[in-house]
Amino acid sequence: APPVTVKELAETAGIPSNRLIKSLMGLGIMANINYSLEEDTLEEVVEELDLDVTVESGEEEDIEPCSDLKVMTDFEDRDEDYELRPPIVTVMGHVDHGKTTLLDVIRETKVTETEAGGITQHIGAYQVTVEGEKITFIDTPGHEAFTSMRARGAQITDIAILVVAADDGIMPQTVEAINHAQAAEIPMLVAINKIDKPNAQPEQVKQQMTEYGLVPEEWGGKTICVEISALQGENIDELLEMIILQAEIEEIMANPHRPAEGVVIEAELDKGRGPVATVLIKNGTLNVGDNVLAGSVCGRVRAMIDEHGQRIERAGPATPVEILGFSDVPAAGDFLQVLADEQRAREVAAERKEEQLEIRRKADTGVTLEDFYEQV
Ligand code: GTP
Ligand code: MG
Repeated sequence: APPVTVKELAETAGIPSNRLIKSLMGLGIMANINYSLEEDTLEEVVEELDLDVTVESGEEEDIEPCSDLKVMTDFEDRDEDYELRPPIVTVMGHVDHGKTTLLDVIRETKVTETEAGGITQHIGAYQVTVEGEKITFIDTPGHEAFTSMRARGAQITDIAILVVAADDGIMPQTVEAINHAQAAEIPMLVAINKIDKPNAQPEQVKQQMTEYGLVPEEWGGKTICVEISALQGENIDELLEMIILQAEIEEIMANPHRPAEGVVIEAELDKGRGPVATVLIKNGTLNVGDNVLAGSVCGRVRAMIDEHGQRIERAGPATPVEILGFSDVPAAGDFLQVLADEQRAREVAAERKEEQLEIRRKADTGVTLEDFYEQV
């Protein structure tokens, strides 16, 4: 289902948006009126406030490009232009098991300290260089409310790092992360974290892992497992080395000479800058000035900003980048493409928007316009 913003839900339900925002805060979510509600959160608030709306369950988002659009980019995608690209590595696991702390120690930042309640509520994307090798990391939230963000993380990734706190063991969202990674058929490395804690029981975690088909290498299995302390920076180099080794095995290729293809990982309406979308480029190179289409939104790349806040002119494979210039806010999970023809981009965007509206009308009334005309 297309995501619904707080504003839209408030309008549909006929209640003040402040009431919704308050109720979301009760769920640990700091929302504003443009905040897009994940399906499970939506269901939760609808139930809690006993709103008179029905939530239609949507299909899992499909991030494959539409086949009818493939013909629209006019270029030659030659095999010999393909090169190794940096791996996209998604960090997943149960809430508070130390995912953001791990990325902080790798990036030498302090993102955890700026998070409301120490809870990650969005997908973060960062590129780091480790001994000359670039790695793109995706941070995902572990809170149970964010299932679709974890699913999205698993879909865009090449390698998953499953973080399991050694003092807590495998928990519900650890299992969910395992399921997402297995469904997406991506290799998984396990980081047993918080081994500095006196009550850490890494051996017990390994025992639990075997129940999910993850048998550690040292026990004769195939799962690489590194015991770390993200907080104290212990064994982080080993973990990074394992990631680089795994990436080498995967031989992840992209063609930097073709028009970009990417995935919107988050998007919002910024007061000063208009629609802003963070996009992860999976293949090709995106340039300022390119005509882009993401879901039902088109635009022309006016500016690109990297994760350090620097303006850049082009973004190659595995680069996370903020894009300005969309006509509207695209939805997270939308597939981004570059189209040679601006007019065609606008037409396709309009067609898709109409389709979405149709789905919404159906959700609102239970009948489509077509059903309606059939009846009369
Ligand atoms: P969500 O994003 O909300 O799912 O949480 P998270 O997995 O990102 O956990 P986060 O990194 O925010 O860490 C949660 C808490 O565990 C924080 O208080 C960290 O300081 C603490 N923590 C993380 N890693 C370690 C570790 O290796 N050892 C110890 N002792 N504490 C840790
Ligand atoms: Mg986090």
